[in-house]
Amino acid sequence: MRRHAGDIMKIAGISGSPRKNENSEQLINTALDIAEDRNFEVDRIFLSEQTIAPCTACYACESAKRCAIEDDMTQIYPRLESADAILVASPVYFGCVTAQLKALFDRTLLLRKQGMLLSNKIGGAITVAGSRNGGQEKTVQAIHDWMHIHGMIVVGDNSHFGGIVYAPAESDIVGMQTVTDTIGKICDLLEMIKR
Ligand SMILES: Cc1cc2nc3c(=O)[nH]c(=O)nc-3n(C[C@H](O)[C@H](O)[C@H](O)COP(=O)(O)O)c2cc1C
Repeated sequence: MRRHAGDIMKIAGISGSPRKNENSEQLINTALDIAEDRNFEVDRIFLSEQTIAPCTACYACESAKRCAIEDDMTQIYPRLESADAILVASPVYFGCVTAQLKALFDRTLLLRKQGMLLSNKIGGAITVAGSRNGGQEKTVQAIHDWMHIHGMIVVGDNSHFGGIVYAPAESDIVGMQTVTDTIGKICDLLEMIKR
């Protein structure tokens, strides 16, 4: 992470839900509002607004350092690369992340092949599910796995693993606290790095 004195640090928030204005997007908005109040620049990447095809394993990313698929990932790559931290929120689908988010994860193989471009960025995860114990922690783990494979610095909520929410999010007071604590931890760490 190359920084210059006075630079404003940026936090990108990804919602992996195909649904607009539902729990995952609300949670990213809540978290990024807190980050904005703490003077961070924020970038909202909502997969409900993006079309991302799955990786086809053509390995153009290895041979030509480019992705052969031309879709919305093209404008997401620089947004991820320019972020200092990435907060990822996903609904739990069958105990894991959504297919939309997994497609994004797999397509970021390009950023590894271009020179570990996400390395040392701060990462945090939020998951929301329809059942109280519906696979939130397993899904957080899947998000953390993606971050570790990119060499990111992974944080939780300063107590456990990150934001763990039982939908509807606004009714889950305990879960909302884990979301607030996760973005708080990301902001704290960025401020420490900046000093
Ligand atoms: C295909 C599919 C699979 C799901 N699998 C689970 C699951 O394994 N566990 C669970 O608790 N909820 C499951 N749900 C419910 C969603 O996690 C829940 O509705 C969540 O709030 C959706 O997030 P969103 O509001 O951000 O879209 C599933 C929903 C769908 C559509």
